[in-house]
Amino acid sequence: MSNIWAGLILGIGLVSGWAEEPVSRIGFGSCYKPEKSTPLWGKVTEFDPQVWLWLGDNVYVDFLDGKYVKANLDPKAFEKGYQRMAKSEGMATLKRLSPGHTMAVWDDHDYGLNDAGKNWERKSEAKKAFTDFWGGEERADGVYSSRDFGPDGKRVRVVLLDTRFNRDDPGPNGDILGAAQWNWLEGELRRPGAELIVIGSSIQVLANQHRFEKWGNFPKSRDRLFRVIRESKARGVIFVTGDRHNGEISCQKDSDVGYPLYDVTSSGLTEVSSLREETNSLRVGNLVNAQNFGTITVDWSLPDPVVSLELHDAGGNIREKVSTPLSQLAPPKG
Ligand SMILES: [Fe+2]
Repeated sequence: MSNIWAGLILGIGLVSGWAEEPVSRIGFGSCYKPEKSTPLWGKVTEFDPQVWLWLGDNVYVDFLDGKYVKANLDPKAFEKGYQRMAKSEGMATLKRLSPGHTMAVWDDHDYGLNDAGKNWERKSEAKKAFTDFWGGEERADGVYSSRDFGPDGKRVRVVLLDTRFNRDDPGPNGDILGAAQWNWLEGELRRPGAELIVIGSSIQVLANQHRFEKWGNFPKSRDRLFRVIRESKARGVIFVTGDRHNGEISCQKDSDVGYPLYDVTSSGLTEVSSLREETNSLRVGNLVNAQNFGTITVDWSLPDPVVSLELHDAGGNIREKVSTPLSQLAPPKG
C-alpha cells in the first residue's frame, strides 16, 4: 500500500473514531510456566480483555527440563524459553487482542537469574531475546515501555517499569530504575492527556512486611517513586505488580502522593506459593493463594467513571474486588 493510501485510511480511522475506542477492560498476570496448562485462560477469554499486561516471570528461563537450575548456562536458554512461550495456551488465548494491545515487562526468571539486578552477565542477551519476542522499542538500558489507549477524556496510559536491568543490590541507598528510566518515567507522568495511569512493576510497591523482593528493600528509590508521582501532579495512578505467587490488593489511603494508592498484585498464572498466609497491614480482603489473573475495569459511561480492581481465580470466582470513583485518585486541589 502506498503511504498516501495508508495515511488516508489512518486519517479516516482517527476521524471516525475506530482507532480510539475507549479501553474499559485490562487484564494482567505474572509467573507463568508456559509448558503448563491452566483453566485460567478460559476465564481470561470470558473476561475478554482489550489490553493484556505480562508483568514478569512470563517464562522461567532458569529451568532445565522442568528443574530449577541456579544458573542456566545453556547458550540457547533464552531462545528455548521463548519457544515454549510461543507455543503456550497463554499466547494462543491473547491472539484475539488488537495488535499493540499486549505489553510485557520482565522479572528475574525471564531476565535469567533469581533476584538478579544490574550485574547479571547475560543481561544483554536477555534483553535481545525479550525484544525479539515481545517487540517494542530497542533501548540501551532495559525493556521499560509505555503506551496510551483510548480517546481524549477516556485515555489510559500504561507504563511498565524495568526493575532489573539497572537495579543495584538492595540497601538503603540502592536504586532500582537507573537515571535514564527515572527521567523517562517523570516524562510519562507529566505528559498530559491520561485520566488513568497504570504503572506495572514486577515487584510489589506497597506491601512491605514480607522478606522477599519488593520496592521496600530500596527505601530511597521507593520514596523517590512516590515523590516523582506527587510532583508530577499525575492523577489516577494505580500500581499493578506480580512476582509473589500469591495475589493480593493493597491500599495506602494516606499515601505520599496525596491520594489513595492501590497495588494490585496478580501472581501467578501457573505458580502458587506454599506460603498461605503472611502479614500485610495494607491488604484489602484476603491473600489469594491460588492461580489468578488481575483485572482493571473502568465504567467510562458515568460522569465520574468508576475503576474496579479485581483478582480472578481459575474457577471463575472474583476473589477480591475494590472499586473507586476516578475522582478520588487525584491530589488535593491548590
Ligand atoms: Fe515468579
